Amino acid sequence: MSTTTAIDIIPSGAALGAEVRGVDLAHLTDDEFAAISQAWAKHLVLLFRDQKISDDEHVAFSRRFGQLDQAAPNQLGRPFIADQPHMSVISNLIEDGTPLGQLGNAEAIWHTDMSYTEVPPMAAILRALEIPEDGGGDTWFANMYLAWDRMPADLKSRIQGLTVLHDASRDSAGDQRMGQPVVTDPRKAPGARHPIARVHPVTGRTALFLGRRRNAYLVGLAFAESEELLDRLWQHAGQKKFAWVHKWRVDDVIMWDNRCVIHRRDGFDAAQRRLMHRTQIRG
Ligand code: SIN
Repeated sequence: MSTTTAIDIIPSGAALGAEVRGVDLAHLTDDEFAAISQAWAKHLVLLFRDQKISDDEHVAFSRRFGQLDQAAPNQLGRPFIADQPHMSVISNLIEDGTPLGQLGNAEAIWHTDMSYTEVPPMAAILRALEIPEDGGGDTWFANMYLAWDRMPADLKSRIQGLTVLHDASRDSAGDQRMGQPVVTDPRKAPGARHPIARVHPVTGRTALFLGRRRNAYLVGLAFAESEELLDRLWQHAGQKKFAWVHKWRVDDVIMWDNRCVIHRRDGFDAAQRRLMHRTQIRG
């Protein structure tokens, strides 16, 4: 479908996702930005190929959508890129014994970014600098509007009005976060509580909002019931019919709406190099 600008929006054909062609993210006109915003609300995840942009240009594009979160810190509690306080690094690379980024090479399970905070980011913009030559490290996205709309009625009625406690202690690769306690009882996990369904402020649509499975708890329920419901919910939400998978190329940029999309990443060979830079827009 062509928009009123020269931009082409090519839907992925899956439950979400579209490629935007005909733009240079470093030199966007206001009309192009408006077309991108409109396409984003419709497709939830947007892919831009061949974007040879700098970190500064990545940050400038991200700022058009709102204020940015501070970057996730390295082991010393500082940004991974000293002069880019808003740029997180996702990478398996290690130099002189020091990780250059987060998440390593392991699979990252389905999650919403930073749902364990009181105000999770509304979006993330991820750019590929180095990609494994042998494949792997594909990123999956799933549409949580559809997961809500198409939930079996009995399951939906059981979760109406519930709140999820989102564990802050482990990341999506299962690693313990710095300064967080080891959680042995998810009912006592550190982290924010959010309604299990949230209305999107732009589209007005309701999205299932689960965070991540590990150490989650449905507040107020017996633990066994919470576990049973969460297992069912995650089985439902992670179905392929709600998902789109992206195979990365260098200079790809992907932005996703963290309010209505969950994502996960396949693992990849530890000997391969993968380096991604990411900004997050405040919720
Ligand atoms: C993430 O979970 O934000 C990382 C996604 C990726 O590495 O592709």
